[in-house]
Amino acid sequence: MLLGGPISTPPPSLRLRATSNPQNAAAQPSQASFQRQPPIYSITDEDLQSKGFLLRRTPEGLNLDHLNSVFVAVGFPRRDTGKIEVALRHTDAMLWVEYEKTRRPVAFARATGDGVFNAIIWDVVVDPTFQSLGLGKAVMERLIEDLRRKGICNIALYSEPRVLGFYRPLGFVSDPDGIRGMVFVRKQRNKK
Ligand SMILES: CC(C)(COP(=O)(O)OP(=O)(O)OC[C@H]1O[C@@H](n2cnc3c(N)ncnc32)[C@H](O)[C@@H]1OP(=O)(O)O)[C@@H](O)C(=O)NCCC(=O)NCCS
Repeated sequence: MLLGGPISTPPPSLRLRATSNPQNAAAQPSQASFQRQPPIYSITDEDLQSKGFLLRRTPEGLNLDHLNSVFVAVGFPRRDTGKIEVALRHTDAMLWVEYEKTRRPVAFARATGDGVFNAIIWDVVVDPTFQSLGLGKAVMERLIEDLRRKGICNIALYSEPRVLGFYRPLGFVSDPDGIRGMVFVRKQRNKK
């Protein structure tokens, strides 16, 4: 899915069209000042904190075994933690939520990209015990805002069909202007 804005390069299958904060989208920066409005999120940092959910934007304090457990709990394959570490080093922006009581990650999302034009969001997960509390939305809203603040307007992600309804209200659209994502798939060689 793809987040809207001028499309310079067709990203993969889904793009985010609007901002997570429609007010920001509507409020184009005036010529006089390029100051952005403060983002309005569905749940504030303070409300999250009062519920014991601490927002984190760096890998510091993130236990990769615990993160792996969240991946596995939602059905993603368990990964080599050394490779996760490398992936995080090559990640442009990340958001995760630490549950104060256990110090464990309960929500996570990250984006890779070129730092100025394009970004792709990966690994959006919420621990099943903590789903449907607004954490997925809270993490995505902030990740999108962080990317947009860097000037990145081409934001894309891959979505499983059952999650399209989660991404659409955040501003992502499928096949914008008919653009389709393509993924390289290695051809199976016929065994004789
Ligand atoms: C998808 C996922 C990240 C959503 O996180 P979450 O914390 O449970 O979602 P939230 O509570 O923030 O939900 C925000 C909104 O999205 C809606 N929503 C959540 N999951 C949805 C889904 N699968 N389909 C449609 N809408 C969904 C909620 O109803 C809520 O709507 P509201 O704002 O009108 O109340 C989480 O379910 C998850 O980790 N799933 C397994 C991993 C996965 O599939 N990741 C995406 C890979 S493409």
